[in-house]
Amino acid sequence: MDISVIGLGYVGLATSLVLSNSGFRIIGVDNKREKLEKLKIGNIPFHEPGLDLILKKNQIKKQIEFTNDYEYAIKNSYMTFVCVDTPLNAKRTIDLTFLKESINSLSKEISKKRKHAVIIKSTVVPGTCDNVIKPILNKKAKGKFHLILNPEFLREGFALCDTLNPDRIVMGVGDNANVTNLQTVYKKIVKKRKLPPMIVTSYVNAELIKYASNAFLATKISFANSIADLCEKISHADIGIVMNGVGLDKRISNSFLNAGVGFGGSCLPKDLQTLISFSDQLEQKSSLLKATMEINRLRPKILLKKAKEKLGSIQGKKISILGLAFKPNTDDIRHAPSLPIIKNLLKENAIISVFDPKAMPNMESIFHKSILYAKSVSDCVKNSDCCIILTEWDIFKKLSPQKIVRHMNKPIIIDGRRIFSNSNTLNIDYYCVGKNFS
Ligand code: UGA
Repeated sequence: MDISVIGLGYVGLATSLVLSNSGFRIIGVDNKREKLEKLKIGNIPFHEPGLDLILKKNQIKKQIEFTNDYEYAIKNSYMTFVCVDTPLNAKRTIDLTFLKESINSLSKEISKKRKHAVIIKSTVVPGTCDNVIKPILNKKAKGKFHLILNPEFLREGFALCDTLNPDRIVMGVGDNANVTNLQTVYKKIVKKRKLPPMIVTSYVNAELIKYASNAFLATKISFANSIADLCEKISHADIGIVMNGVGLDKRISNSFLNAGVGFGGSCLPKDLQTLISFSDQLEQKSSLLKATMEINRLRPKILLKKAKEKLGSIQGKKISILGLAFKPNTDDIRHAPSLPIIKNLLKENAIISVFDPKAMPNMESIFHKSILYAKSVSDCVKNSDCCIILTEWDIFKKLSPQKIVRHMNKPIIIDGRRIFSNSNTLNIDYYCVGKNFS
């Protein structure tokens, strides 16, 4: 069974590789020539654990190929996953340009066939399938399609694991829906494991499930961060212990209650903003979503304030930053808290040295020569007046704060991810989000 996948970002590439590994022959389509060239020689264009090995294995077995040719891809497949980006536009609403382009291109090819399944994995606001995608397919593919909205819930850094082990499979469908082929695909992906719960519902419900899920995760994080701020005002309070106690209630669960410098990445901030703008368009108040966003916007400022309090003035001080990616196991810096922190420190004329195991090239493409790119943790913190930790990479967690300050000019650590909250910080001027030591 041959499947085409349009849009080879995190979702599209992980989907392509998992499908190719499950025995499907995959035609991956993207319009970025540079990305295609990399993939053709077995290189993944971003850091995502495990994808490179599967790519190489399945290229050798000729289970996967890459092209920018829609005609070839649609002609030689019976099902297409659409995984193109749906970014925010200047008005902070959803930009459907790439999605419309790809639906237009594939519709033209589908019209030459008997029937084709179109599976939308891109994140789209309620009404997009009914009012945007289906009309294009109806007109240009002459009704020869099955359209299913199948939102994706994978996390960067865990793309393979999450694609292989989904918590649920959501399928938004219209009249005369045929979900059998997609169910068969999922059965092959999970192999002998039990299929997770399947929800077959309308397009709008499926569209909303995706946004509501990400908005809820973001809300949990901002909630934990609000309680963390409160903890800092109460003698001996510790957000880690408090949220552990809260999360043991099965109705709450302890995931996404880690307080820190806030959420970043390409999904939570974007989807939350899109949902806010979408609610505004419907004149529906979204106070909770707006508060979640605002709390998150202020997180980097809290760390900057702490740095100023401890250093007096930032001007001319050497500040080391450990962790640039929006979270560990990725080189992605989109909406990473490190960005506003570095920008603000530069404005105040700090000398900044940074280190991240994977995200250095991405950072260099933004800040160029205005900051120093260290080769290691010790190189980064050497002679610095203050060290700010922004990503909880394992290699940082394995260090001791005492070892870090040994290289520093002043023993000041600002821990935005609480990685040393339970370590020996004797004689260190240590700040940790949500913990009051006095
Ligand atoms: C998120 C969702 O978790 C996925 O389910 C979803 O499929 C994806 O968006 C998407 O829409 O494509 P991702 O952006 O990869 O996945 O990252 P998360 O693991 O959700 O982390 C987001 C941010 O929240 C990170 O900056 C992380 O450091 C922060 N975070 C997470 C916290 O600050 N505290 C926590 O307890 C958890």
